[in-house]
Amino acid sequence: MEVVIVPDAAAGGELIAEAMAALLRRKPDAVLGVATGSTPLPVYRALEAKVRAGAVEVGRARIAQLDEYVGLPADHPESYRSVLRKEVLEPLGINAEAFLGPDGTAEDVAAACASYEAALTAAGGVDLQLLGIGTDGHIGFNEPCSSLASRTRIKTLTEQTRVDNARFFDDDIDQVPHHVITQGIGTILDARHLVLLATGAGKAEAVAATVEGPVASVCPASALQLHPHATVVVDEAAASKLRLADYFRHAYANKPAWQGI
Ligand code: GLP
Repeated sequence: MEVVIVPDAAAGGELIAEAMAALLRRKPDAVLGVATGSTPLPVYRALEAKVRAGAVEVGRARIAQLDEYVGLPADHPESYRSVLRKEVLEPLGINAEAFLGPDGTAEDVAAACASYEAALTAAGGVDLQLLGIGTDGHIGFNEPCSSLASRTRIKTLTEQTRVDNARFFDDDIDQVPHHVITQGIGTILDARHLVLLATGAGKAEAVAATVEGPVASVCPASALQLHPHATVVVDEAAASKLRLADYFRHAYANKPAWQGI
């Protein structure tokens, strides 16, 4: 995989937004897979700036959700559908009809998962999937020891993830759902380009395990090593535990600009 070390979160956001814009210029109806959490926000703001500046058109783009809480009403401000509407669809001016996501309110969760898989397939698959990473190495909500071949399904959150996410629920862990629907690791690996963004020292250990550790389900993000086009974008703090950081810097500095990420 390619590792790009950027000076800060804003530079990471700009780099990834430019990759998304380049994709949309060559494929205007591309499917962009989007993630929630705080980390991807600079990407969405940078892409919004490009749309406003007329540097890219998103009128035909489609947006695919990575994961969702089970049991939160769809209009709950912290349902990932609501978060993505507020952070991605509305600022970019993309219609709700262009949005693909699992139904976290469904009575029959297994059927909701199967129908989301079918919708992704019918859309032609995800062109570029943006990922964050949990402090425990999760991608989407694939917690440690998720099958590397998993498809969209229900998962139970670890205590650590619920503690990490309590900040979105008035710092009250009791409000954080226990169950989620997430694209599986196998589903994520089907996307044509995976871009993982990690910022801050809190992610340094998970990033080192992802990039330099063995491929192992105990660190779900390490599955990116199996993908032919995976890009890991990290700031200096998140890169601080990478043994090969100097090599990654050298390789990126000497990369032909036309290649992009
Ligand atoms: C949640 C999401 C993940 C995200 C992670 C990290 O658990 N399901 O997709 O990567 O949070 O969030 P943050 O970027 O806020 O650290």
